[in-house]
Order: sequence, then C-alpha cells, then structure tokens
Amino acid sequence: MEAALNCHKVVFSYDGKRNALRGVDLEIPRGQFVAVLGPNGCGKSTLAKQFNSIVTPDSGKILVLGHDTSDPDELFFVRSHCGLVFQNPDDQIVASTVEDDVAFGPENLGLPAREIRERVDGALAAVAMASRAKSNPANLSGGQKQRVAIADIIALNPDIVALDEPCAMLDLRGRRGIHNVCQRLHESGITIVLITHFMQEALLADRIVVMDKGRVVMDGDKDEVFSNEDLLTSLGLEVPLSVKLVNALQEHGIEVGPTMSLRTLKEELCRLYSTM
Ligand SMILES: Nc1ncnc2c1ncn2[C@@H]1O[C@H](COP(=O)(O)OP(=O)(O)O)[C@@H](O)[C@H]1O
Ligand SMILES: [Mg+2]
Repeated sequence: MEAALNCHKVVFSYDGKRNALRGVDLEIPRGQFVAVLGPNGCGKSTLAKQFNSIVTPDSGKILVLGHDTSDPDELFFVRSHCGLVFQNPDDQIVASTVEDDVAFGPENLGLPAREIRERVDGALAAVAMASRAKSNPANLSGGQKQRVAIADIIALNPDIVALDEPCAMLDLRGRRGIHNVCQRLHESGITIVLITHFMQEALLADRIVVMDKGRVVMDGDKDEVFSNEDLLTSLGLEVPLSVKLVNALQEHGIEVGPTMSLRTLKEELCRLYSTM
C-alpha cells in the first residue's frame, strides 16, 4: 500500500540562495500519528506547506498517497486528501457562523445539500463543536476557533491532516481540546502530522521526527527520541519533565518505564512504591 506521505531527498529554497529544506527523507505510513519537532526556522512550516502543494520541491519529490505534489494535474487530489491547519485559526475562518464556515469547503466541491449537511454535522461532532454550530466564530475562544478550523478540514474528508503548531496561540485548556481532537481523528484512521514546539504535545504521537537546519536529525518512537536528552537540549528543545524524571531514575538503576506520559509515570511510581 502507498504511504500517506513520502518525501524523497526534498530540497527547497525560497530565495534561490539559502535552502529551507536540505534533503528531507521521510516516509509516513497511513494511519500514523507523527509529531514533528525542531527549533525555530528549521523548516517545519516549509515542510507542511510542501504536503499541501503550497510550495513544491526544487529537487527531490513528495508523494501524497502516491500522487506527486509537483504535478499540477494532481493539485486537486493532493489538496483534497491532505488538509493543512495553520497556527492562527483567523487565517482559515471566513464565514459569520460556525456551520457556514465548515460548509464552505464541501459547497466548493459542489456536493449535494444533504451530503453537505452530513459533512458539517460530522465534522463539528468530531471537534466537539456541534453545540456552537450557529455561533459567530468571532465570539469563540481561541481553542474553539482552532477546533472550527480543524472541522473545516475534516469536512473535506481528508486521509491526512497536517497541523502546523495549532496550539501555539492557545492556553492549556485550548491545547487540551486540540489534543483530544487529534487523538480522536487518529483513532478514526486519519494520518496525523502534528508540528509543535511543545515537547509534552509530542508525547501524543506514535512517532517523533526532529528537524534541524532543513533536515531530519532524529526519527523514532518517543522512548528512543526522548532518551537522547543531550541532543534535544543542544537543539534548544526542552525535554518534558516526566521524561527527565524517567531518564534520571533509570540512571540510578530504578526500573521505571519505558513510559513518558505523566499518567503512566504516576502509575509506575505508585506500583514501585507499593512493592518497596
Ligand atoms: N516566505 C518565506 N520567504 C523566505 N524565506 C522564508 C519564508 N518562510 C520561511 N522562510 C525561511 O525558511 C527557513 C525555514 O522556515 P520555516 O519553515 O518557517 O521554519 P519553522 O516552521 O521550523 O520555524 C527559515 O530560514 C526561514 O527564515
Ligand atoms: Mg513554523
């Protein structure tokens, strides 16, 4: 089966002088939940824009479900199968009610009214915003707006959703809402690429890719990536407290883990304590 996303030696420059991407190789199987981490300016947003054909490689290539993002004839396929959610939901929301906003995409696809209704209802349910269908997006919190922006994408029935720092402008509560949505979409089989600079957020993913200077420098599951605390710190990425604690306890020969989420760490510590 074709991978959801396949990047092969992708090189890209905005100005023809400095390369924003310097040979990215990355294959993401269908249904995977991948977090992409990396310092500012390392090329994360540029990579996300490539997934959606907003920019295309100078050399190398990107395939979305086997379809080449550089081929103009594939633009419709690429955009309808891979949706992109941006940092600021205000860039994405256009209508004056939530449901009209979500209906906008399906209407542009020329779908019949009944199917549009079903898509809008389904997308709003998926982001827990059904009760606000008639609201004006301007009256929503940042987290709710971001969930509407995700519903806009979901209503197009994509196989892949890439989110470029969707939580950067949100408070903790708003972030939790987005995390729940990502998890639910993942469970429904959608391939998720979550770009983030919140290390704790990366723990949601099956796989973590770390970029630096236009390249992938680490790629593995959370235990592999987070156990390399030195490299992460050298990139200016702060390792989550739960991970630091696990690494420190393991250095002292205390058998915890492999676990990196706060909840499972708490369970592990309680178990250890009860056997002492
Ligand atoms: N529209 C643009 N025009 C010119 N250079 C850009 C543009 N967007 C990003 N860049 C440059 O490309 C590199 C990668 O940027 P970006 O993909 O935004 O990184 P990140 O999302 O990881 O912070 C940076 O050096 C940045 O300055
Ligand atoms: Mg960015």
